[in-house]
Amino acid sequence: MIIVKTPAKLRACIRNYRRDNPRGTVGFVPTMGYLHEGHASLIRTARSQSGFCVVSIYVNPTQFGPDEDLDQYPRDEKRDLQICSDLNVDIVFMPENLYRTGHLTTVTVPGLSNSLCGQYRSGHFDGVCTVVAKLFNLVSPDTAFFGQKDCQQAIILQKMVIDLDFDIDVRILETIRESDGLAMSSRNVNISPKGRKAAPAIYRGLQAALALAEQGETVTAILLDACRRVIEFHPKITIQYLECRSTENLDILSTLDRPAVIAVAAFLDSVRLIDNIIISPERKASHGSP
Ligand code: PAJ
Repeated sequence: MIIVKTPAKLRACIRNYRRDNPRGTVGFVPTMGYLHEGHASLIRTARSQSGFCVVSIYVNPTQFGPDEDLDQYPRDEKRDLQICSDLNVDIVFMPENLYRTGHLTTVTVPGLSNSLCGQYRSGHFDGVCTVVAKLFNLVSPDTAFFGQKDCQQAIILQKMVIDLDFDIDVRILETIRESDGLAMSSRNVNISPKGRKAAPAIYRGLQAALALAEQGETVTAILLDACRRVIEFHPKITIQYLECRSTENLDILSTLDRPAVIAVAAFLDSVRLIDNIIISPERKASHGSP
């Protein structure tokens, strides 16, 4: 495994791989480190589906607002490198800073970036799109892997790839959870022990909505209500948003007439957690058949 700190070295490594393996494929997993099983599942898939596997670890400052947790974002470089090495990653790209002095350019996907998380994290998705566009240009992967856990991010990045003609296949992989249902997240380490006991209520709430949908309920206000009741049963959890949106373009849905996502952001103590569940009409239909 090669640890690369500079864009120039990264480009050289990729160039060498492509020269020596003209039919080889490059798979890429961008991360902010403090790796957990969610990241590992992306890396395993990238490893198994690509000739060359590149992981980036970079806590991207431009996607954090001034009052957000950039300084508290957990880091453990040594452990991350061990995990990558155990997973047979070829290159770990760990730049110190990806932005030159005087950097001006921002990539924005406006229509999709101002709702849900974007409503409460102004500029967040501009930061995500800009850094991922830079990383895509540096790595030039054939395939890039992202998690469903950050569903809005995944939808926005898929749109960016289409709009900007990146020749990259974007794959979205399922959310990996703790045994009690809590979606794995680097931020979970900052939850207090009491908060950690309450945390699975977020997924239980989403499942309550899914169960109703699978029984045939199509009015999203009823699904969201059921979800909210389960989550807010815990006084420790404060919902920031809970919405049902189209997975295609994030339109607000009042009835389940298209593939949908129920997405939630909630605070546990001061830790902000997000989660979501996909409800597709096919899933509803297939559930009833033998
Ligand atoms: P980070 O939060 O480190 O996540 C890196 C990737 O892992 C993202 O695609 C995210 O959706 C995925 N992931 C996180 N938790 C997961 C889980 N429980 N199950 C499955 N996948 C999971 O997302 C970012 O970093 C950044 O915004 C980044 C794209 C790297 C740009 O800076």
